[in-house]
Amino acid sequence: MNNSQRSDLHGGQSRAGRSRIAVLASGGGSNLQALIDHFAGAGAHAGEIVWVGSNRADAGALERARSAGITAAAVGDPSDSDALLGALDAAGADLLVLAGYLKLVPAAVVRAFHGRMLNVHPALLPAFGGAGMYGEHVHAAVVASGAAISGVTVHFVDEEFDRGVIIAQWPVPVLPGDTGASLAARVLRLEHRLYPLCVAGVAAGTIVLGDDGRTHGTLNVPLPPDAPELRFALVNDPRPVAPALSDPSTIAIDVARLFPR
Ligand code: GRF
Repeated sequence: MNNSQRSDLHGGQSRAGRSRIAVLASGGGSNLQALIDHFAGAGAHAGEIVWVGSNRADAGALERARSAGITAAAVGDPSDSDALLGALDAAGADLLVLAGYLKLVPAAVVRAFHGRMLNVHPALLPAFGGAGMYGEHVHAAVVASGAAISGVTVHFVDEEFDRGVIIAQWPVPVLPGDTGASLAARVLRLEHRLYPLCVAGVAAGTIVLGDDGRTHGTLNVPLPPDAPELRFALVNDPRPVAPALSDPSTIAIDVARLFPR
């Protein structure tokens, strides 16, 4: 599929039904693993991961991809937009998902995947984001600030680090005595839950970036029964939730209403 054909797609869903998802990662790839697991199970109807790339040939993420039978490639020069677009085109990618990818994606790639490129950030943007705010630096800054709440942000990607339109956020408490590492672990557990749901929503076309520059759609977030600290985050969320609470294990969130810009 070439780029002009891609622009005919709506909300990232290919006409064949299932989106073809490419992932870029720089590190260990635990978010990639959560995505692999989701699209091998509950999210299989929405899409499949077809390609994983990394700026580091020794990234654990590439190993995870190979273990799952997914094409894995080292990206030679991350600023080479033609090479990256060529690889994504060859993979037939409809969506581009960043999972701990530390390089700025070239503008031509951002434009080609407008509304179909996502990132997860381990804090509540727009706080604690931007250049240099990655990995342990984020959590160390949150703890040092004295903030009581951190969290996870999933957003569409634009040409600046961590500045794209927000899709979903989930708060996580900063607890007394937290270190950057203990906070990172608490946040990462939530990343693994929220990110696959957001990617699947965009893949299925139930979450879209509108022409008005806002996120539209509905995200069904299963309430985690086995994680008290995550339940804390939900029940302490002061924002109203959509009335569709017929299934008590599910909170239906109207993304556009909850996250107006
Ligand atoms: C995650 O915290 C992600 O939000 C951030 O980098 C970390 C990557 O972890 N961008 P992993 O490689 O997915 O384990």
